[in-house]
Amino acid sequence: MEADPDAVARLVAERLHEALGQAAVLGLATGRTMEPVYAALRERLLALPKPQRQMLLGQWRSFNLDEYVGLGPDHPQSFAAFMQRQLEGPLHLAKGCLAIPHGLTQDPDAEAQRYSAAVTAAGGIDLQLLGLGSNGHVGFNEPPCSASEPCRCLTLSAATREQNAAAFGGNPADVPCQAITLGTVEILAARRLLLVVTGAAKAQILRRALMEPPCADVPASWLQRHPRLEVVVDEAAAAQLEISGESGLLRATL
Ligand code: GLP
Repeated sequence: MEADPDAVARLVAERLHEALGQAAVLGLATGRTMEPVYAALRERLLALPKPQRQMLLGQWRSFNLDEYVGLGPDHPQSFAAFMQRQLEGPLHLAKGCLAIPHGLTQDPDAEAQRYSAAVTAAGGIDLQLLGLGSNGHVGFNEPPCSASEPCRCLTLSAATREQNAAAFGGNPADVPCQAITLGTVEILAARRLLLVVTGAAKAQILRRALMEPPCADVPASWLQRHPRLEVVVDEAAAAQLEISGESGLLRATL
């Protein structure tokens, strides 16, 4: 457990940096939780000597979890635009090495299948970064959600559109109705999972996700079944967990 979101961000950036050094395929996430994480990662990478940085960035391969249907990279609230602002642009990543579902597709179901096949063709995800939705979603896997849902197009819940409304000027009606998301299948197939949760508003749902038996009502609870789940939280988010701590790595009593 870390003291605050900045300490969480530094630790997660260290994990991502290590993984890049091993030429890992990264699974990346969006959301406010990830903004300080990506800032810390930029800081680390941009501080490296140029040859070392170019070597690391030259082997960058990542897949984002999700994208809104109907929004393309030119729309500022698309996750593609978020990733462009946070990482692609500042790090000068080569075109195409940071993959994300195409939100402007005419056929979202086919796009979901294409995207899942692209993950498989890359050899699967080595390190999957995950945030936590206020209703327990991971990626955009909305409750109820089994542990065997594939990458797909789905309808977003009212709770999620409410959660993400701030980015759309505060009106949930302006948040797209549908999204394409990697499923619990692809997420649980990743070799390592890194769940990052900060802030008191997530304390209760984090407790349900980690300390109650896995169930469809809390999609993140399926993560308990993964043999290599690391949970990085700040004190506020961890307030309702029973922890026997080690530095950096949360050990909840599951
Ligand atoms: C979003 C994303 C998730 C993200 C979650 C939490 O809707 N689809 O991948 O982890 O909700 O967002 P935030 O970090 O802004 O609380």
